Amino acid sequence: MKILIIGTTGAIGTKVKEALVQRHDIISAGRNSGDIQVDITDAASIEKMFRTINDIDAVVVTAGSSSMESFQTLSEKSLLPAIQSKLLGQVNVVLIGQHYLKDNGSFTLTSGILADEPARDAATGSIVSGAVNSFAMAAAAALKRNLRINVVSPGLAADSAKDIAHLFPGFNPVPMSKLVNAYLKSVEGVITGQVIKVHE
Ligand SMILES: NC(=O)c1ccc[n+]([C@@H]2O[C@H](COP(=O)([O-])OP(=O)(O)OC[C@H]3O[C@@H](n4cnc5c(N)ncnc54)[C@H](OP(=O)(O)O)[C@@H]3O)[C@@H](O)[C@H]2O)c1
Repeated sequence: MKILIIGTTGAIGTKVKEALVQRHDIISAGRNSGDIQVDITDAASIEKMFRTINDIDAVVVTAGSSSMESFQTLSEKSLLPAIQSKLLGQVNVVLIGQHYLKDNGSFTLTSGILADEPARDAATGSIVSGAVNSFAMAAAAALKRNLRINVVSPGLAADSAKDIAHLFPGFNPVPMSKLVNAYLKSVEGVITGQVIKVHE
């Protein structure tokens, strides 16, 4: 398959790319990294990316950021960057990409454990991850040409634990191999409309 992965230099994207490149043609993308530059917060940039590459069978998004902030100071304004990046960025990759993918193609998005479990100062992550999960459910029912869509919901990735585990007390680091397998199940398998939770 010809697979576009957006976010291949991140903790998760690095490992997903390493696994998929064994068997597939990979095109990597990021703002400042990859074969192609794209900023998923900018719909015109996404459109330009899809116009540049042809015959894509699968798109994997392991990009998107979310911030942490006290609930007492959280505001519409401070929520917006995560909504524009992790939520609308991934939504736009699907809304635009559906017109470019080959028949029977697939999208695999990334949400996170915060959709299901709260953490201190992490309401932003809960909001956007929950919305990404719901978006995929709705999209799976509407996509044409046998296109599939799933979401991988990572717990605390083992490769990120040294940097962020202190922010998520009691969250078990998830082995990277388990996370990678969730992406493989979505890309190479047959399921659609699923949130693949890899929380432990
Ligand atoms: N790591 C964890 O423990 C964990 C747990 C649960 C959920 N998640 C979710 O999993 C996803 C990936 O996490 P991660 O920790 O692997 O991320 P990361 O290390 O911050 O890497 C993000 C990747 O995405 C690219 N990127 C970021 N913003 C972009 C944009 N606007 N347009 C295009 N590319 C962009 C970056 O490359 P450039 O800088 O070149 O753009 C980089 O390759 C995120 O949605 C995160 O919330 C992660």
